[in-house]
Amino acid sequence: MSPDSDLSQNPEDTGSGEDCARDLVAQMTLAEKIGQMSQLNGGSADLRQLVREGRVGSVLNEVNVEEINELQRIAMQESRLGVPLLIGRDVIHGFKTIFPIPLGQAASWDPAVVERGAAVAALEAAASGVNWTFAPMIDITRDPRWGRIAESLGEDPHLCSVLGAAMVRGFQGGAARGDGLGEHGAIAACAKHFAGYGAVESGLDYNTTNIPENELRNVYLPPFKAAVDAGVATFMSSFSDLNGVPCAGNEFLMKQVLRQEWRFNGFVVSDWDAVKELTVHGFTADDRHAAREAVDAGIDMEMASALYAEHLPALIEQGSVSEQQIDTMVCNILRLKFQLGLFDNPYTNPGHFPRPVNARHQQAAKEAALRSCVLLKNDHHTLPLSKEKLGSVAVIGPLADDGYEQLGTWVFDGESQHSHTCLQAIHALAGQELEVRWARGMETSRCRKHDGFDDAVQIARESDVVVMFLGEESILSGEAHCRAEIDLPGNQEQLIEAIADTGRPIVLVIMAGRPLTLQNVLDKVDAVLYVWHPGTMGGPAVADLLFGIESPSGKLPVSFPRLVGQIPIYYSRKNSGRPPSHDAITHIDEIDGKAPQTSLGMSAFHLDTGFTPLFPFGYGLSYTRFEYSDIATSAEHIAPGGTIEISATLHNAGARTAEEVVQLYVRDLVGNVTRPVRELKGFQRVRLEPGQSQRVSFTLHTDALAFYNREMALVTEPGMFHVWIGGSSDAELWSQFEVVEAADHAV
Ligand code: NOJ
Repeated sequence: MSPDSDLSQNPEDTGSGEDCARDLVAQMTLAEKIGQMSQLNGGSADLRQLVREGRVGSVLNEVNVEEINELQRIAMQESRLGVPLLIGRDVIHGFKTIFPIPLGQAASWDPAVVERGAAVAALEAAASGVNWTFAPMIDITRDPRWGRIAESLGEDPHLCSVLGAAMVRGFQGGAARGDGLGEHGAIAACAKHFAGYGAVESGLDYNTTNIPENELRNVYLPPFKAAVDAGVATFMSSFSDLNGVPCAGNEFLMKQVLRQEWRFNGFVVSDWDAVKELTVHGFTADDRHAAREAVDAGIDMEMASALYAEHLPALIEQGSVSEQQIDTMVCNILRLKFQLGLFDNPYTNPGHFPRPVNARHQQAAKEAALRSCVLLKNDHHTLPLSKEKLGSVAVIGPLADDGYEQLGTWVFDGESQHSHTCLQAIHALAGQELEVRWARGMETSRCRKHDGFDDAVQIARESDVVVMFLGEESILSGEAHCRAEIDLPGNQEQLIEAIADTGRPIVLVIMAGRPLTLQNVLDKVDAVLYVWHPGTMGGPAVADLLFGIESPSGKLPVSFPRLVGQIPIYYSRKNSGRPPSHDAITHIDEIDGKAPQTSLGMSAFHLDTGFTPLFPFGYGLSYTRFEYSDIATSAEHIAPGGTIEISATLHNAGARTAEEVVQLYVRDLVGNVTRPVRELKGFQRVRLEPGQSQRVSFTLHTDALAFYNREMALVTEPGMFHVWIGGSSDAELWSQFEVVEAADHAV
């Protein structure tokens, strides 16, 4: 596409392709219109012939640039009207240069990092002829059993909105594209999965969801609205059913919310076979019925299944679907093709693009990985490792030197040969000064054998410190890869115990696609660095953190449960009428025999685990110590439509330069519907030298305090608000302000 295409333009603006799209639709036969609404998989039977006949609007999963150019040539020169193809691909966290999984990127709390990652991915994908990615995935989820949590940006609407919009800008080319990563190579983004997919019951993929409209609007929809505001080109409907209506047939979502309320001007694609699956859901009787419901709901393009091609002609003929409806949908699709500049130049010359996995892309991927790692525990200053003080280090675990597994889920195009592993990077940093011993310990993360334990124990005994690389292989998270237990799989806990018995200090590095329940092992190790699946450059990033070249600065984008039975556990819970308190919980082992029913108090906690997560949302340690003080608000009262400044002093009280993610939380004390006990409203990354202090200030507009009430109106209600600034969702430094009616304020 042309370097300066801007997908965020309003279609009513000149040059947005609206007129061209309308003119073209007017020339199309019905079969050609339906062709535009059909997306086929690369390599499908007769694909070239179908393209020639104008029966395909988009191809997915074809990444051979010669084949793509040939398909585009056929579309342009041999089809009657010469309409180019959209070439779609799941470019989720990198194309050839793989960045940390999206959940890891979310732990960076850094929109610039996320935007750059998407821009690199777009550039590399565009070099292969791909012009459309199925990302960002912006499903809020509070269930780490769900394998797709890996692909998400976590549990919080605000964080997900900010980072999702950054991803859209990165893919599509936004204001920040002047940062030198690439002059061209933007591709269309796709906000998915609309909507509520992250709430699938029991964290089971494809399962049903039941989300009250109020909750849907306050929690699950905001990231999608943010994507629309960022100019996202397309939407994908979710596989799941929402309150009884599968999303591929959900008129409320697609028509009322997306088109009427949000005025979305792009197009909506179904998920893979999801139109056909409307019948499997039991929502439609057969394929024809399914095609009609999907069109009625507003699914402009059908992915994979071919129900539109098979049934729309008859549905139109019998008057169940109007051709005018179809024209609008085709226009939605054609507009994007014009905006992408495909009619002018649909071809790709890889020679006009930088080489994939080049040094700049690697550096961007390393930077992203550096900021994504979260230090969860660091007793006795075990980390950073000191080359001066240590003579030897034992590196143990199946994920220390596995270039494939560190890439994570949704890697179709990245190759493990480009990966830099942790073991390689540790060797490189250790140089001659530090002896590095290595034992795999277990064949895979799921292994149930013990035969590798002896070697691992042996090298641990011989070394001054042990660094264990455990967690989950990439196949254990992602689409359709859900787990009912989320402990370390296989014999990993036993391996930790065996190493702990040596008495050596243990640094546990976890690579995983989800939060794992680490309670069983936490006491057995001295430090824990959570690195997700960190991507191509995971090794050098992790090694830099282990040796203190950089200080960890990632923060959790999702709460970590102690036990799976706590799920869903998230920081922005409702208070309930009987909230728990720390001094009023009793553990199951402390209950007297025949204790009276009311003797444990009557509040919301689990007898076997209390009520707190193992690590809260927003949490993450550093090698320095940050202190917060002197919170202040610019006013005690604020009128609707006004802004207020909330500030606090951040001080680096430690001995290292480091970055902190300063977080702002708010609680609306009384609402027409109950409000969460805290909600994230802002965050900033701040870098401070040892001893340095800085005033950190957030500006909050009253619109940021709005929520959907019982009548589904978006309102900011007058009343008291509490506000916190700190380094995690359990920040203690707080203040308050009041939103008053405009008239009160004037008085
Ligand atoms: C199914 C997934 O749900 C979706 O996210 C993906 O983009 C499509 N398949 C295409 O691969």
